[in-house]
Amino acid sequence: MSTKQALLEPIQVGDLNLSNRVWMAPMTRSRAANPENKPFEIHAKYYRQRASAGLIITEGSQISKRAVGYINTPGIYSQEQVEGWKKVTKAVHEENGHIFIQLWHVGRISHPDFHGGELPLAPSAINPNEKSYTPEGFKETVTPKAMSLEEIKQTIEDFKNGAKNAMKAGFDGVEIHSSNGYLLHQFFSATSNVRTDEYGGSIENRTKILFEIIEAIKEVMPENKIGVRLNPSLNGVFGMKADEKTIPTFDYIINKLNDYNLAYLHLSEPFTDVSDIPYLEPNIAKRYRPIYKGTLVINNAFDQEKGNKIIEEGLADAVAFGKLFISNPDLPVRFETNAPLEEWDQSTFYTPGEKGYTDYPLVEETNVG
Ligand SMILES: Cc1cc2nc3c(=O)[nH]c(=O)nc-3n(C[C@H](O)[C@H](O)[C@H](O)COP(=O)(O)O)c2cc1C
Repeated sequence: MSTKQALLEPIQVGDLNLSNRVWMAPMTRSRAANPENKPFEIHAKYYRQRASAGLIITEGSQISKRAVGYINTPGIYSQEQVEGWKKVTKAVHEENGHIFIQLWHVGRISHPDFHGGELPLAPSAINPNEKSYTPEGFKETVTPKAMSLEEIKQTIEDFKNGAKNAMKAGFDGVEIHSSNGYLLHQFFSATSNVRTDEYGGSIENRTKILFEIIEAIKEVMPENKIGVRLNPSLNGVFGMKADEKTIPTFDYIINKLNDYNLAYLHLSEPFTDVSDIPYLEPNIAKRYRPIYKGTLVINNAFDQEKGNKIIEEGLADAVAFGKLFISNPDLPVRFETNAPLEEWDQSTFYTPGEKGYTDYPLVEETNVG
């Protein structure tokens, strides 16, 4: 019997043989500070440093100009952006790593300043009452424009185009960002989606856009290169307000995802304490592991011990680590050697340049001297 930690066991995902189950969670770092919002050398350096992750999932990357909601986030809709991402995928592959790109549309978590004065797009005209990080600093969100059927169709096309570009840029796959209160999550929730057409009302209607996006992406890449991210018990953050319909909606989505041979399903445990809310699920992996038949990746506030435990218990196949990967680029090596972990510096999460981005030490550098 292997004495290896569960997190360090290899895992097959689609056609990929991943060397471990310590995955890097998608994290916006706002370093694409150029007019084209293209990744460049510092992105390649940052992701190369983290290539020992079993799988890197990149920061959310907008699939169109209309999909953006934060300054300096990279896109995946233009040729310049594809060229920039090629540098990133090449760097990660040179280190024998694997990398998926997260395809992102923020929906109403945006501001007219990003759209030449036009309103952000959302399922319904309901203000999330959040803040948007604009070029002039944080601003209050506005009441968005309810998308027309034409705009929904275009958005599905944009996701497909993002996936096509991801293939051109050399990614191993894509993760559909249907989580954390952004556009697709806004469609799922009856508190942000009050549409009366085929995209609103019933559970089937509110979740339809996700399956249409999966079908569209399948036209340009095999389904075993598609991951889906969900955060079922998100409540009170990113403008999301859960209700009695929330968990049945996610039960439906996750059951239906079994119809596809996806790369993985990426779930988050609740971001806030929901144990007092009777209609929300406090134990996401426990609820959904028996339901989802494919590879299940779990996230939120895991450390080495909790990560090993949840895999050993059979409740997840891999763990996505976020902040720990910001400050510990060689996290799997540190787990393997039980090396000490570096603290992350929150003040540089979203600041431009290399500070707090590419200057965290590797463990061998820490040990020198
Ligand atoms: C700086 C930062 C940026 C993030 N950006 C994204 C993002 O672009 N897409 C996404 O799905 N989640 C994003 N998240 C959420 C993380 O993927 C993850 O769910 C969260 O950090 C909890 O995991 P952790 O406790 O291991 O850090 C971000 C988190 C942080 C800290």
